[in-house]
Amino acid sequence: MTQDELKAAVADKAISEIQSWLERDTVLGIGTGSTADLFIDRLGPLRDQFKGAVASSEASTQRLKSLGIEVFELNSVGTVPFYIDGADEVNANLQMIKGGGAALTREKIVAACAERFICIADHSKYVAQLGHFPLPVEVIPMARSYVARELVALGAEPVYRQGVVTDNGNQIIDCFNFMIDDPVAMEAKINAIVGVVTNGLFAARGADILLLGKADGVERIAL
Ligand code: A5P
Repeated sequence: MTQDELKAAVADKAISEIQSWLERDTVLGIGTGSTADLFIDRLGPLRDQFKGAVASSEASTQRLKSLGIEVFELNSVGTVPFYIDGADEVNANLQMIKGGGAALTREKIVAACAERFICIADHSKYVAQLGHFPLPVEVIPMARSYVARELVALGAEPVYRQGVVTDNGNQIIDCFNFMIDDPVAMEAKINAIVGVVTNGLFAARGADILLLGKADGVERIAL
């Protein structure tokens, strides 16, 4: 199976996972990226079975709307029963690196408001230790150099993601060659640097369920 077929398989499985929970007043939390896009596409035909969605990016908002799904402001919704999103890396504790698509901050906010986080990913994302994928850090533009120096002090090789402006008007630094031993501690440490908006470690609040696409089917891993 190709990676795209595996992503489609986990998107199908995520629909099966949530469909029986959908009610007229259900608002779903929706992530960002190619796997989340496939999930959004499958939600379109179900739009009459639930109220709408809160999206973690402008791109997902546009895709949801194009399928006739109403998109709500998170502040008007409060909590969502499910947040469904992909990952760049995920480990056995269902901790993740996210933000390859630069949507990490809004993803983390919607995830924080979710009763259950369902991560959908193909098996290439499943790792023993987080850090092969460069960890994204969203920064206030004027703090970029300062934050980069602090990241060097933590052992990372920070690289400014040129030409990318986040939906929040900020910039992204990617941390290369930065294997992470203690994801919860490192998430907190990076977030404590002045000028950091957030970082792409989803460790303190990881996923609750991982739907992992493999050649022999979708494995469901729940904590
Ligand atoms: C977006 O900022 C990311 O967190 C994505 O969720 C992550 O990069 C996974 O994307 P794909 O589903 O495209 O691999």
